[in-house]
Amino acid sequence: MNKELLEYMEREILPRYERFYSHGLLHINQVRAKCKLLADYYHLNQDMCNVIATYHDLGLKVDRNNHEIESGKIFMADHELKRYFTRVQLEIMKEAIEDHRGSRKERPRNFYGEVLSDSDRDFDIEVLVKRQWATSLKNNVSLKSFEEHFEFCYKYLSKRINENGHFNLWTNNPILIERRTEFERQFLNKPFTRNLYRKEYEKIANDGTLEKILNYYEDY
Ligand SMILES: [Fe+2]
Ligand SMILES: [Fe+2]
Repeated sequence: MNKELLEYMEREILPRYERFYSHGLLHINQVRAKCKLLADYYHLNQDMCNVIATYHDLGLKVDRNNHEIESGKIFMADHELKRYFTRVQLEIMKEAIEDHRGSRKERPRNFYGEVLSDSDRDFDIEVLVKRQWATSLKNNVSLKSFEEHFEFCYKYLSKRINENGHFNLWTNNPILIERRTEFERQFLNKPFTRNLYRKEYEKIANDGTLEKILNYYEDY
């Protein structure tokens, strides 16, 4: 990977996620790591994969519901990137960012979009629990108890699994499929999952994170 480009992103782009929680650096760095894994596997351009992972959720600051389009605009407006990529590469990357959303029904327009979208899935249950708690606390203000939040989160994800039999993966990459199988096995064991949600809830309620999710972090 180009060292100068990497330094630029570490200095200028990654800090923009500091006031995000469920889309914060933990999430972004996980997506970057999975994009790297897929870039190695399919012999893709490493710089392109790293950049799309790094920029993909920046648009949440602008418009939550269309964040993938806004991320694409932020990406295209960044003149620094024109030093490293051709016009054609930039277009492919923009499309990949715009197509990354998990709820999207149509296949991404290019393979980089498939790689990014698949990398954006959470198959690490501990990370997923953290992210879902933050999302539920911010979005579902009418829910008060642990059980209400948990049931909401569990139903939401179960629906994503049950509609298609699995969480959707566009690439069907065998490494990700293995992680998905393990994840689904854990997740569908409801008492196990409830216990993880309970532990995480107690942790964030006691260490000040819950307060920060409600009053400091900007994402949902
Ligand atoms: Fe996103
Ligand atoms: Fe994301």
